[in-house]
Amino acid sequence: MPPVDHGESLRTVTATRYVAPLREGGSLPGLVEADDLGMYVLKFRGAGQGVKALVAEVIVGELARRLGLRVPEIVLADLDPRLSKAEPDEEIQDLLDASGGLNLGFDYLPGSFDFNPRVRDPGADLAARLLWLDALVLNVDRTWRNPNLLLWHREVWLIDHGASLYFHHRWGPDWVPAAEYRYDISDHVMLPAAGSIADADAALRPLVTEDLLREVLALVPDEWLAADPAFASADQVRAAYLAYFARRLDQAATWVPALEETRAARV
Ligand SMILES: Nc1ncnc2c1ncn2[C@@H]1O[C@H](COP(=O)(O)OP(=O)(O)OP(=O)(O)O)[C@@H](O)[C@H]1O
Ligand SMILES: [Mg+2]
Repeated sequence: MPPVDHGESLRTVTATRYVAPLREGGSLPGLVEADDLGMYVLKFRGAGQGVKALVAEVIVGELARRLGLRVPEIVLADLDPRLSKAEPDEEIQDLLDASGGLNLGFDYLPGSFDFNPRVRDPGADLAARLLWLDALVLNVDRTWRNPNLLLWHREVWLIDHGASLYFHHRWGPDWVPAAEYRYDISDHVMLPAAGSIADADAALRPLVTEDLLREVLALVPDEWLAADPAFASADQVRAAYLAYFARRLDQAATWVPALEETRAARV
């Protein structure tokens, strides 16, 4: 896989063929071929989770990548709804019909497995960093039941961040981020393997600068942000995410020790 360019925009491809649905996946992601002959896991804008799940995927996935974690390349995938004509399955037809325009694609990692920390030790440092990141973005989808981590070429890859930043489903311009969200890690897949989360905090927090966050937020297509009826413009929505991160990072001295307490109780 070529290294991902940390450029100012995500690459855009055009979907040319719906290959197959993925076996799991609540949002009916599908394997799709694109005009660059690459294979992508497509998350459709017309899926029940809505476009905000795609926004969360971009923000959290690209933030994770910039913090040194492995994330499959994320692309914007333009889709012609006429692709549904070749599709015999009615549910998939409906999904494609509802998903004309920009969708989100993830470089498909062929031969990857669901990562299981009981089978393979991820390393105390990686495990702690992942806990820290998930607590920062309030990712509720990294549990034993649904780890959303893939093992590929002996490395751990992060997928499926659509359920992060869940407050954006009920916010608005006058919304002030809560001082401290409690983030429960007791079912987090990385808890048994994790080393010091305070160390992870010391290593990662200085990296999440305002500039870095602005760079990441700029990658989200304007039209997805502007679709939020609570705000007047895409940039207002970006400012609201920025305000969340500023506040959350500022409150790390409350939520990091809480995570450490849970970890200590377990050991
Ligand atoms: N980049 C990828 N390469 C290979 N397989 C992938 C990739 N992304 C996802 N998958 C596979 O597809 C499954 C569903 O993907 P994902 O978890 O992102 O979708 P989802 O609809 O949000 O799922 P759910 O809500 O059920 O967790 C994953 O569990 C994994 O097996
Ligand atoms: Mg998943």
